This record gives sequence, structure tokens and C-alpha cells, in this order.
Amino acid sequence: MAESVDQQGVDQQRAVLERVLAEALDFLGGLASRPVNARADVDEVAATLGGPLPDDASDPLAVIEELLAGAEPGVVAMPSPRFFGWVIGGVLPAALGADWLTSLWDQNAGLLASSPAAAGAERVAGDWLLDMLGLPAESAVGFVTGGMMANFTCLAAARDAVLRRVGWDVEADGLLGCPPVRVLVGRERHDTIDLSLRLLGLGAGRAIEIEVDQQGRVVPAALAAALAQEPADAATIVCLQAGNVHSGAFDPFREAIAIAHHHGAWVHVDGAFGLWAATSPRLRPLVAGAEHADSWATDAHKTLNVPYDNGIAIVADAASLHTAMGVHAAYLIQDSRPDPMATVPEFSRRARGFTVWAALRSLGRDGVAAMVDGLVARAQRFADRLGRLDGVEIVNDVVFTQVCVSFGPDAVTREVARRLLVDGTAWMTPSTWHGRVVLRISVSNHRTTDADVDASVDALIRILKAVRAEVG
Ligand SMILES: Cc1ncc(COP(=O)(O)O)c(C=O)c1O
Repeated sequence: MAESVDQQGVDQQRAVLERVLAEALDFLGGLASRPVNARADVDEVAATLGGPLPDDASDPLAVIEELLAGAEPGVVAMPSPRFFGWVIGGVLPAALGADWLTSLWDQNAGLLASSPAAAGAERVAGDWLLDMLGLPAESAVGFVTGGMMANFTCLAAARDAVLRRVGWDVEADGLLGCPPVRVLVGRERHDTIDLSLRLLGLGAGRAIEIEVDQQGRVVPAALAAALAQEPADAATIVCLQAGNVHSGAFDPFREAIAIAHHHGAWVHVDGAFGLWAATSPRLRPLVAGAEHADSWATDAHKTLNVPYDNGIAIVADAASLHTAMGVHAAYLIQDSRPDPMATVPEFSRRARGFTVWAALRSLGRDGVAAMVDGLVARAQRFADRLGRLDGVEIVNDVVFTQVCVSFGPDAVTREVARRLLVDGTAWMTPSTWHGRVVLRISVSNHRTTDADVDASVDALIRILKAVRAEVG
């Protein structure tokens, strides 16, 4: 009897997985040709999936069919080679396979003892990452949900370390009554630095903004001047950036870090997508000196093309991260070695190392470099083709994967952006940078070919002509 119940469960599971595999193959096969935009809006998806929750159980395969019918029309083809919105990576084949295995094995990656598989893969993936990114080999590496949480995690370690240096134990005593903490940030830091400061009780509004140049890079002299202000002996954190979300620009690390360290500051680098320049011999000069920082945040779900969610927090002084994040409890199985949970804010979590391991293992060192070089080459192709059009301006220096385009008057750029999203040939997102409306193009998907760039440019030209004819 028990056997036949088990067999029924296995058969149901097989039917579900086979259906999902068929869907996956269809989805992947159609990615290059399908429109990038969704066919259904939020309300339509919710209406199809909604209604009162039934009292009775449903057949798992029927549930999956229902989910496909209700949600798939609302899927934006983010892994499409013509998706250039925000900064969204694609998915490498080995990483997708590893992601499926991550769900299949359903490991809680918090403890060394809870999953040797997860902890072992993370150890190797972490070592490979440090090697590829040119960062100190003894750093602690934490696998978090994304760049935001990587910034938060690194800054928690920074908060612990800079306050400890002035004799304050923030883990025990919190922030009430603590010595002054100064946080200096570039004027064009990513918004998640502010959110991290809010969550850490350091206050986004108290951060001292450092002047930046035309490309959004911190001006070293301005940093030096700000650091020289009183209280010069305050616990100090400086946040720099590898990859400005508009221009793709990199802060002048060597100079800025030397200045910050001269003033005893902890230097954090937000390199959500840009830190990957380190993997390419051609692009490496962009991050020269970044290895001297104290902590680095990056994402695997952006430039490395691993599926969501996958961010990486790296801290050179492993002890400060372990002190900020470590948890001990009698019912856990722990020894003197730091557990994976001592590197991340989560207690229980997904085993994110498998996908990173698989992505790096499948591409190899040269493959990662070639992928990153390819993204930059496609970004430059966008800039070359669009920049030659009458009345179209590439607003940033295209040094990495980001391109900002103006189609003339702000109203025209805004309308081109709006119509492109409706058109569905490609997905790019509008923004405002340095007081101008721009269309942002972020090339982050390994699948994007020159032909995808050309098809997207052709769509933009077609839309621009129509807009100019109507709007002028
Ligand atoms: C520079 C930078 N930092 C942080 C983030 C936040 O990363 P995530 O969305 O993975 O949390 C981003 C996202 O684009 C980014 O570009």
C-alpha cells in the first residue's frame, strides 16, 4: 500500500518535471524570436491566477498547467538577447542546470554540517571568484540575494570594524551613544548604498556626498578635502563604485583608496556589475587598485549570467564579517570553523554557490573574460551605430556595458523609450542623468549578438522616425 502511494507521488512528480522541461525547451528555443515585452499586465495575471483558495487539493500537473496559463503571458523575456533594461544578466546553460539541482536538493546552506555539498561548492566558487576578481585570497565570501544585500553585508562588517577600532562593540551595544561614524559616498553612488545605510542605522541622510566628474567618478581631491574635515579621527567608511549605473564609469580606485586609507577609513567598493572588468585582461585597468579596498559587493546574476538571485559579499578581514554576521545556537551543529551563515545576514538560505561554481567551471577563466569583453563590444556597437544618427547623442563615455542615449529633446527621448517598450523588439529603460532624459542600454546578457544589437537599433530608428514625424 505504502509502495503504491509512493509510486503515485513519483509518477506525479515525473509528470510535473517533464511538463516543466518541455516548457523550458520551448521558452529557450523561442527566446531569440519572441517579443521581449509581456502580453498580459499585472491585473490580468492576478485575475487569471486568483479567486478563492480552494479547500481541496489539486493535481500537481494541473496546478502547473494553471500557473503556465496564468503567469506565462505576464513574463517579460528578461533572458532574451534583446533585453537591455536596468542591469539584468542572462542565464548560462550550466548555471540553469545547477539552479534546478539547487531546488532539487533543497539544501539549507547555513551550516557546514547542514550541507557539505553546498558549503564545499561555495568554498570552491568563493576561491575562484577571488582569483578571477583579483581580490585577496584570504577574504570571506558570502552568497546573498543580490548587490543590495552584498552592499548591506559588507557595510555591516565595515560598521563593526570601524567602531571596534575606536573602542565600541556595535554588535553588543548597538548605535545608541556610539562614537561618531562618518560615511562618505560618491554623489552618483547606487541607491542601494543609501538603503544599506538606512538599514544599518547609519542614516542615508548623514552620508557626506563627494563631488564627481562628468562620468560620475569620485574626484580624489574632493574626497581628500572631505576626509580632512573634523572630526578627523571619527570612525570612517568610504564607499566607492565599480560601474556607474548610467555611465558604467569606475572610480579612480588607486588614488581614492590611498587617500581614504591614509585617513584610517574602511573602503567599500560597490561593484555589482563592474567588478567583473577584473576578469578581462583588456578591461582590467578599469579596476586597477580596487583590490586594496576592504570590502567589495558584486552580483553573479548580472555580469556572470547566473539566474536570480545571486549576489556576493566579499570582505578582506574575514573576522569582521564573521563578527558582524555570526550566530551560535545550541541546537545547531557547529565547531570552531566559521559557518556559511557567518558570512551573510540570512540564517537559512538557498545554496547559491552551485550556480556560481557551474558558471565559472563551464566558461573557464578565458571564457569569463571573453563573455565580459563581448558585452562591452556589443555596448560599443550600440554607441557606434546610434551615435552616427542625426540628432542622436551618446551621453556617456562607453567604457563598459552601459550606454546612455539622447534622441534630442527630452520629450522625444521619453516617447521613444515608451514606444520601444510597447513595440517589444527590445527592452531598454528610460532615466534622467545629469538633468537630461536618456534611454539606458545595459548589455549584460551573454546571448546578445551583433545581430541583436542591429535589430534593436533598427527598431529604435523606426520608432524615432515615427516620433519625430508626430512630436517634432
Ligand atoms: C552599482 C549597483 N549597485 C547595486 C545594485 C543592486 O543590485 P541588486 O539589484 O542585485 O540588489 C545595482 C543594480 O543594478 C547596481 O547597478
